[in-house]
Amino acid sequence: MKNNDQLMVIAHRGAAGEAPENTLAAFALGLEQGCTGIELDIHLSKDGEIIVCHDTTLDRTTDRKGAISEQTVEELKLADAGRWFHERFEGERVPLLEEVFDLVPPEVQINVEIKAGVDDLVPALIGLMKRKNRVENVFVSSFDFDVLERLKGLEPEAKIGLLYNIRMSKHYRMADLLDCPVYSLHPHWSRMDKQKVREATGRGLHVYPWTVNKEEGMREMIACGVSGIITDYPGRLKKLLEG
Ligand code: G3P
Ligand code: MG
Repeated sequence: MKNNDQLMVIAHRGAAGEAPENTLAAFALGLEQGCTGIELDIHLSKDGEIIVCHDTTLDRTTDRKGAISEQTVEELKLADAGRWFHERFEGERVPLLEEVFDLVPPEVQINVEIKAGVDDLVPALIGLMKRKNRVENVFVSSFDFDVLERLKGLEPEAKIGLLYNIRMSKHYRMADLLDCPVYSLHPHWSRMDKQKVREATGRGLHVYPWTVNKEEGMREMIACGVSGIITDYPGRLKKLLEG
């Protein structure tokens, strides 16, 4: 497929289809496969560090248990975050967001997702983005729009994206209702069609559907004119775009 140079290839939780999600190994694999964006999820540790993990607990994706918010970084780093996926990933650790910022080159965008209700990390996130010079090339998404408004209130330069499970027709209208400018919409891909994408992009919004893993769905989203695609298989999408 030609003429899609601008379409962002976003590695969901890293290249989560082929490596343990939200680990440095998954982000490195995404980069190796040529992704131009990385999506990840964050939580706050007991000692106030931003931790990259999808769930609120370690239970599903590591060999240890317990809430992230109740453990220090030292304790969280004891967990093996790779072996559950495959033994060749044994020794992978739950990363700090700072470690991901250090790994990912500045030309690759990072989509940081804040889970609903996890807004106590907003000041720490802004502090880290500023310290690591990442305000420009990070966009922060959430299903929780109050968190995004809070972030934007504290750092007007931050880019925010609305995550949706519902109909696209309401997306851009919701963006209008927020008291601050919205950068992007993140709908579930099955809700998208060409007309909805056109309406949103016509209003200057970027559209990043998730999580598109099969070639057929990727082709469909590309034909709709989306700004980028969030996928567990960035290598697959990259090949499709180059083929
Ligand atoms: O950001 C898109 C997608 O990651 C939202 O759902 O559960 O995979 O974080 P989830
Ligand atoms: Mg996510």
